[in-house]
Amino acid sequence: MIEVGVGVGSPPLVLTVIIENAGELFGIDGVIPGSCVGIIGDTVVALGDLGGFDTRSAVRLDARGGLVTGGLVDAHTHLVFAGDRADEHALRARGATYLEIAEGGGGIASTMRQTRACPVEVLVLEATRRLDRLLLGGVTTTEIKSGYGLDAQSELKLLHAIKRLSETHPMEIVPTFLGAHTIPPEHRSNRTRYVDLVVEEMLPEVAEGRLARFCDVFVERGAFEPQEAVRILGRARSLGLGVKLHVDQLTAGGGAELAAHLGATSADHLEHVSPAGITALARAGTVAVLLPGAGLFLGEDVRPPARALLDAGVPVAIATDCNPGTCPSTNLGLMMTLAVSRLHMQPDEALRAVTSSAARALDLPPRLAGLTIGAQADVAIFGVPTHRHLPYAFGADVTRAVVKRGKILFEREPCPSFSSLTTR
Ligand code: NIG
Ligand code: FE
Repeated sequence: MIEVGVGVGSPPLVLTVIIENAGELFGIDGVIPGSCVGIIGDTVVALGDLGGFDTRSAVRLDARGGLVTGGLVDAHTHLVFAGDRADEHALRARGATYLEIAEGGGGIASTMRQTRACPVEVLVLEATRRLDRLLLGGVTTTEIKSGYGLDAQSELKLLHAIKRLSETHPMEIVPTFLGAHTIPPEHRSNRTRYVDLVVEEMLPEVAEGRLARFCDVFVERGAFEPQEAVRILGRARSLGLGVKLHVDQLTAGGGAELAAHLGATSADHLEHVSPAGITALARAGTVAVLLPGAGLFLGEDVRPPARALLDAGVPVAIATDCNPGTCPSTNLGLMMTLAVSRLHMQPDEALRAVTSSAARALDLPPRLAGLTIGAQADVAIFGVPTHRHLPYAFGADVTRAVVKRGKILFEREPCPSFSSLTTR
């Protein structure tokens, strides 16, 4: 048993919530022996068994032999947007590429037009539904980027929508400013003017209003050049924001090297990362955030080299990338499946990629990095017996219950078609 807070001779501390009958407890360092979690207030105080604590008045949550983990963390989403791009999905099936569609005025610019025209209340409502779906999948913390406004007023509208979501939704939200997502059509003839706008107008307002923890830049053909990213992220850092980059997604461009050079907290995508880029990330301690849903949805064969990254010592996180263009999905469990099936990660690596490594990609405190004594009581219970069965539950809805900051948010029966998985 592991426990805290019980001094010799002092009266036993009173648990507020007990999770019992876990088939497996998966903690910050892997599988923990035992079957119970004890919670007081918003903190995990016992893991394994509950000896020493007063259990009489606790609310009991029966895991029924299921897997119990820390709440999952989705380290990369663009989930505040309006409209959809189903037309582009169909166009790609006819052979058009993502870059061709973007060059023709579609892509990010299409969502930008729909998002600029959308009232903030509607953006908040639609994003709330996406957060609900994430939560139903066991996610209790998520990052959300702006990036579909692409002018000062609209980017601030998105960041205010994200702020409103963090005030109204139980999900813990890490906001990221992605004003440098692409050059909006009105600035394409003078891109420097747009970079000036991001650096001199948007970033100071974002920082002053404390509207974002990170600044992200999409470095890619048709988006931003490395030198532009250096300027934008240099300013962001001087204003107290952390640094993230979308790099090496569609074409190879030394993006990982750039992220390492800038001391970025994370480098995201990395389908085309070079061997030198992998070494640079490992040296810099930059987290690789891989988004296997995006490549799959775009129909790309190139996959990020998760094995090479892990073997080089780069922490690897997996995220949904939830966005209307490259991955309209909130299914983080499915991304774990893809991590195992397509990126050759082991199930325990896939689970760390959505807990401790994802927390690291967001620079979250250890309290939010998974189950351990003293952790914030964010817990997910799944109707599968072990962590190996979570990525195995291909596309299925297996979450049984979610606890956020010690509060039971929901508890439900497992999906009946998955009952076979709950028998060992
Ligand atoms: O992460 N790569 C850039 N941004 C998004 C796609 C945005 C869009 O197509 O709307 C991504 O894949
Ligand atoms: Fe993205």
